[in-house]
Amino acid sequence: MEQYVIRGGNPLVGEVEIGGAKNAALAILTAAIMTDETVVIENLPDVSDINVLLEAIAEIGATIDRTDRHTVRINASTIGDLSVDYEYIKKIRASYYLLGALLGKYKKAEVPLPGGCNIGSRPIDQHIKGFEAMGAMVEQSGGYVTCDAPEGGLQGGHVYLDIVSVGATMNILLAATLASGMTIIENCAKEPHIVDLANFLNAMGARISGAGTDVIKVRGVPQLRGGTYSIIPDQIEAGTYMAAVAACGGEVKICNIIPKHMDCITSKLQEMGASIINYDDAIRIRSTGKLHHTTVKTRPYPGFPTDMQAQICVCMTLASGISRLTENVYETRFFGYCTELQSMGANILITGKTATVTGTKQLTGATVCAHDLRAGAALIIAGLAAQGTTVVENIHFVERGYERLVEKLTALGAHIRRIDD
Ligand code: EPZ
Repeated sequence: MEQYVIRGGNPLVGEVEIGGAKNAALAILTAAIMTDETVVIENLPDVSDINVLLEAIAEIGATIDRTDRHTVRINASTIGDLSVDYEYIKKIRASYYLLGALLGKYKKAEVPLPGGCNIGSRPIDQHIKGFEAMGAMVEQSGGYVTCDAPEGGLQGGHVYLDIVSVGATMNILLAATLASGMTIIENCAKEPHIVDLANFLNAMGARISGAGTDVIKVRGVPQLRGGTYSIIPDQIEAGTYMAAVAACGGEVKICNIIPKHMDCITSKLQEMGASIINYDDAIRIRSTGKLHHTTVKTRPYPGFPTDMQAQICVCMTLASGISRLTENVYETRFFGYCTELQSMGANILITGKTATVTGTKQLTGATVCAHDLRAGAALIIAGLAAQGTTVVENIHFVERGYERLVEKLTALGAHIRRIDD
């Protein structure tokens, strides 16, 4: 079983390049199959979630040419199978974007019910509500979701999401792109990756407006063309490195990012005592490692991202005073890492949706286990900040979303190595 072995206590110093956004790339790669022309996607993160989705797209018949680690050429004119194999969806939840893309383009799709990170119940009722608003017949049986468009194809519809959902916003947007007429999606998610998907689809000839606001309007088009597109930088990868510097101390320039996307994370880390300077495409963060307590409530964008909950919690465990962290998106996210942090000496009390974190002078290295992607990232930050040696197990979760983590952290002065036990 692969592990990271970390000797903590070193400040982080230097520069780190941030890769393409995993959660934008997953939707955009799926959108790329909606045209029969060739699409080139650049700034792709080389992480296992992306590689699994590319395998799934190839498996249904598309031609995939990975020209380098961060670039892929896709031509979907050879797709023949409209049913996605369970093999893929059980590994990555985002395979369910194939529902919207295949339904939109081929008027039919069949995808196993999604798996993904164990951070809470993750229904897809809102996705289905959107497909049905466009006239699709949706059936769930035997662990599969099957969608069929009406005779004349999907018709523009009007859907008001009951809950702000990134996945549902993306999936409905995909299907609506090739529907006939206007689709209006209200109470949309506004994450940067939603905007990136809409920009990509518009570059392929779609007619989408309002992405990044509560209301997205899609005027369906008969077909999409190919083209070349570069994925935006990953807000959560960048935030993870920022939290690591805050917790460990040091000074790092986080390069190749969009600082505006980091605002909610930047302001919280500044509140805790980190010094942060914004540049056009970079952020410089400096910390003494001495942090003040704070309060965080996770919310959909532009609020504090749930995907940074675990990482900021580690900073709280080392901050003076009592911090409070309320999770408003996923009900069980705390359980992926808080017990592990407590084994390192953290003082965390979870009551309902809120963790009360009493700062401690230092964490002590231990053997801990990652239970999901961001929990694993948090345990690595804790190991980097702790005194002594930490072993993080189940690191396959981490490698789903962080590219060349060991190389990047080592270049910043961290003592971390990957071993296959
Ligand atoms: C996406 O998941 C991300 N995954 C998650 O990142 C991220 O935590 C989440 O958005 C929130 O930002 C990908 O993009 C691949 P949601 P998604 O639909 O789309 C409820 C990571 O670490 N809901 O916005 O599944 C749902 O239960 C991963 O990179 C419904 O009730 O999240 C949750 O409570 C982890 N019905 C809330 O909405 C639905 O039909 C938000 O979920 C859909 C969602």
